[in-house]
Amino acid sequence: MSRLQVVSGKGGTGKTTVAAALALALATEGKRTLLVEVEGRQGIAQLFETEALPYEERKIAVAPGGGEVYALAIDAERALLDYLQMFYKLGGAGRALKKLGAIDFATTIAPGVRDVLLTGKACEAVRRRERDGHPAYDHVVMDAPPTGRITRFLNVNDEVAGLARIGPIHNQAQAVMKVLKSPDTAVHLVTLLEEMPVQETADGIAELRAAGLPVGRVVVNMVRPQVLDEAAVRAASGDHREAIARTLVSAGVTGGAALVEPLLDQAAEHARRVELEREQRAVLDGIGLPAYELPYLGDGADIAGLYRLAKELRRQGVGAA
Ligand SMILES: Nc1ncnc2c1ncn2[C@@H]1O[C@H](COP(=O)(O)OP(=O)(O)OP(=O)(O)O)[C@@H](O)[C@H]1O
Ligand SMILES: [Mg+2]
Repeated sequence: MSRLQVVSGKGGTGKTTVAAALALALATEGKRTLLVEVEGRQGIAQLFETEALPYEERKIAVAPGGGEVYALAIDAERALLDYLQMFYKLGGAGRALKKLGAIDFATTIAPGVRDVLLTGKACEAVRRRERDGHPAYDHVVMDAPPTGRITRFLNVNDEVAGLARIGPIHNQAQAVMKVLKSPDTAVHLVTLLEEMPVQETADGIAELRAAGLPVGRVVVNMVRPQVLDEAAVRAASGDHREAIARTLVSAGVTGGAALVEPLLDQAAEHARRVELEREQRAVLDGIGLPAYELPYLGDGADIAGLYRLAKELRRQGVGAA
């Protein structure tokens, strides 16, 4: 299993939820995972119902079997200070610079440099070792920007190429790309069984591949149970009013006849959705990537829901050796 799992997808399809569930699922049997977000939206804190995450790795959940999930909201400005400290041993001087406002950088920095700092921090966490040589984290999961921006975001080498051909930013970009393009990384795309997200998924995969980035899986989220079988779906779209009315009446359902139209409407609606989902599934099958599939949670994706999704992912092989 890749050590850096990047979760992208169309906006609102469940990237944050899936990234969190994946981090939980990977934290089995005493493993330790780090869940990072890069867009400064505190989505992880919201999801885990904790206060805003500081720029500091914090334990936010314990997985069944004792594994631990840490979380970090990566901030480009703080990542720059880390970076200066690492490369120039600035330490306290870096903090002083910040206090002086010398690094009023969040708004002025070139986007490519910003991205290399964000991805760089995640890659640093992937490579980090404890004193005893063990990796600090078994897995790092990134709640990443949406499909439309993911390739640019990850392809930092190209992004900074125009800015820095030599020097530390260039070297940093090279080091980051080495991790991102290695088998240690997988970029997953979350989708729903709807036309727009599926189309974006197909386009996103093509873009990632063209950039030489490792595509992982499609994660089909919010899959609803199919309550009618094939025959029933067909029947629901046909004209069986009288038979249904007779059945309702003979079954002693009060007001049976009046229920026929609303019931048929609902059944037809369901049949349409099943048909649309079938079409989108066929498109996804055509892409030919392995997929994870997560159920729609009727009660919403709260913490209990996350554990359910994590269990589902493990059932589908996540975290297996
Ligand atoms: N499997 C699911 N079942 C039910 N609700 C879900 C599921 N997955 C996500 N949700 C809900 O869908 C909404 C969007 O999810 P989430 O915030 O994870 O998406 P996102 O892709 O990260 O969105 P954004 O693009 O805004 O970052 C949230 O309200 C979340 O609780
Ligand atoms: Mg999100």
